[in-house]
Amino acid sequence: MHIQQMWIERCACVLGKNLPEQNVLEKLHYRYTCPAREKGTYLPQWLWDSCFHAIVYRWFDPDMAWEELQSLLMHQFEEGPDTGMVPHMSHLAENGALSAQQLFQNKNSSTITQPPLISIAALAVHKKAPNKNILAKLYPKLLAYHDWFDRRRDDDHDGLAAIIHPWESGWDASQRWDSLMGLHACTKEELFELEQKRKNLVSILAAHKYDAKTLAHVPEGFYAEPADFNAIRAADLMALAEIAGELGKIAESRELEMRAKAVQQAVHDKMISFKDGELFVHDLLGASEEKSAVDHAGKFVLLFCQCLSASEAESISLQLFRSADCYATPFRVPSTSRFDALFNPKEYWRGNVWLPVNWLIWRGLLSYGYKEKAHTILEDSISLVQNSGFCEFFDPITGKAGEKYGQSCPRNQSWSTIVLDMVLDSEQIIEGKADE
Ligand code: GLC
Repeated sequence: MHIQQMWIERCACVLGKNLPEQNVLEKLHYRYTCPAREKGTYLPQWLWDSCFHAIVYRWFDPDMAWEELQSLLMHQFEEGPDTGMVPHMSHLAENGALSAQQLFQNKNSSTITQPPLISIAALAVHKKAPNKNILAKLYPKLLAYHDWFDRRRDDDHDGLAAIIHPWESGWDASQRWDSLMGLHACTKEELFELEQKRKNLVSILAAHKYDAKTLAHVPEGFYAEPADFNAIRAADLMALAEIAGELGKIAESRELEMRAKAVQQAVHDKMISFKDGELFVHDLLGASEEKSAVDHAGKFVLLFCQCLSASEAESISLQLFRSADCYATPFRVPSTSRFDALFNPKEYWRGNVWLPVNWLIWRGLLSYGYKEKAHTILEDSISLVQNSGFCEFFDPITGKAGEKYGQSCPRNQSWSTIVLDMVLDSEQIIEGKADE
């Protein structure tokens, strides 16, 4: 069998097995794919997961790709100050997800968001399976989502969006958030405590009406402007500008492009620094925008949004490949520097490889013309899947499945099929047929 077809079949099989139960599907307007079924905790729809799923489906089932994205917007907030917000978890009621409903005091969805990749995914699907009707239906919703960020998450008007919960970053348990959460977690007990703190934080957000401006000053609140999140947002605005152009909305397209460039500029001007010729990337923490010193792989995502000059891109891409450097693990890319005092290759978000993050880095490298470096990330990603399956995340030293509190993670996680996009798109790039 042709190698490409083999990959399509393997990935289609993982995604197919992760569709919701028939009784849930019957209640839905559009189908979506659960992040994983095997542990029973990933049954609702998750925001950035579904974007990655759609990017994969576009290669063999574009109808499903479009449904996945339309489903994601079913519970977009339509009233109140947070109108336009797309929740990070949705379809709670259909799944009978009682604990999540209780936690968020909401029957349908969560009350916080996740990295905004929906326009990026919609544009990617449209490029493979053009559908201007669906795109036109999605467009006002995607616009409302970005307007919401400007209205509710950029209280200091610096062009950078703030998150008010670690879950919004997508990097739930990362060291990046330890100082804001008041805990530097090492032991199993501390990691449990950190998880409990994340749950407790939801009621603090509710008590302050999810108002970022207030939460920035509440001692028990959480407020951060993450570098990768903002980089992704810039890329998503750029994709939305292209969508507007596709729909013939030329003036809106230009305006969106300017908004995207303003975010790119803000990321560049406020989030990078140089020391001894090395480039550093910083999350900004708290209302004082303290430049975080935690070194994490989110910095490479800046390549994805074209926030760096050619020489800056060169500097950062070298950091990914120098053998003595922080990211030189047998399997790349660990989420945290291997020299971080709290680096833990096995434990959930404390230093593991996540294939969606690899995808963002791979795309970023390609966009700066680093084909060979991008290929290395592709090869590492393929080896991980060949050796251990479609794990939720991987140990960068052994290549084996990662763990959460000593329990192995799911081995058929939908978003790890993103390796398919890397395999198939690489073929096109090598053959010189890339359309982006
Ligand atoms: C975990 C991850 C988050 C992801 C979710 C569903 O919570 O930290 O990024 O979206 O699982 O896969």
